[in-house]
Amino acid sequence: MRLDKFICESTELTRSEAKRLLKTGSVSVDGSIVKSPAQKISVDSEVLVDGEPLSLVGFRYIMLNKPADTICTTLLGTRAEMYPSVIELLDVIKSDRLRIAGRLDVDTTGLVLITDDGQWSHRITSPGKECSKRYRVELASPLDQSAAEQFAQGIQLQGEKKLTRPAQLEFVSEQEVLLTIHEGKYHQVKRMFAALGNHVTALHREQIGDIKLDPELEAGEWRYLTDEEMKSV
Ligand code: URA
Repeated sequence: MRLDKFICESTELTRSEAKRLLKTGSVSVDGSIVKSPAQKISVDSEVLVDGEPLSLVGFRYIMLNKPADTICTTLLGTRAEMYPSVIELLDVIKSDRLRIAGRLDVDTTGLVLITDDGQWSHRITSPGKECSKRYRVELASPLDQSAAEQFAQGIQLQGEKKLTRPAQLEFVSEQEVLLTIHEGKYHQVKRMFAALGNHVTALHREQIGDIKLDPELEAGEWRYLTDEEMKSV
């Protein structure tokens, strides 16, 4: 790879900005100052800018604890939104490459997975993969224990032809439950409880597949997935 391309791929600089940077003599390759943009770089080359190492941006796998009043969109700055995007909470370069693997509503909080690896993201979002999502749900009215059986059988959502896939319901209290679903229809959890005549007052995603929201992350905080978490998908 050419040195100017390497600089563009590892920073936010454009090709012409990279060339200007090279002219200043602040870039070294394997210990020698290099000013030529066409210099070839190998995988083992050590490239430093003012003594700081540069490395290519590979695929990134991120978990974020989504706060309320943020939206799951990657269309930054294309239209005036009332709420900031969760992508704006990440201080990473090349954030325009990132995609959200499974959106949450503006008022829903909790686990959001973000990546620039399209195939990995597909394994989470593709309906055929039936990736599980676990939500903590607070309800306006007490829920009867018999609801667990209804969720296991499938719920008829308004406007849908088929029943929802079997879902698992665990009671925390009469008005707080943990629900695991294996699909991701629009507003699915809220619509499932609406179909039973109830109303969701708070919704928080705790888990996607085997990946659990890190309890150390405050609302709005994020971290990279561990190798084990990434490979579990
Ligand atoms: N189901 C919903 O109704 N809303 C969400 O944000 C996620 C699942």
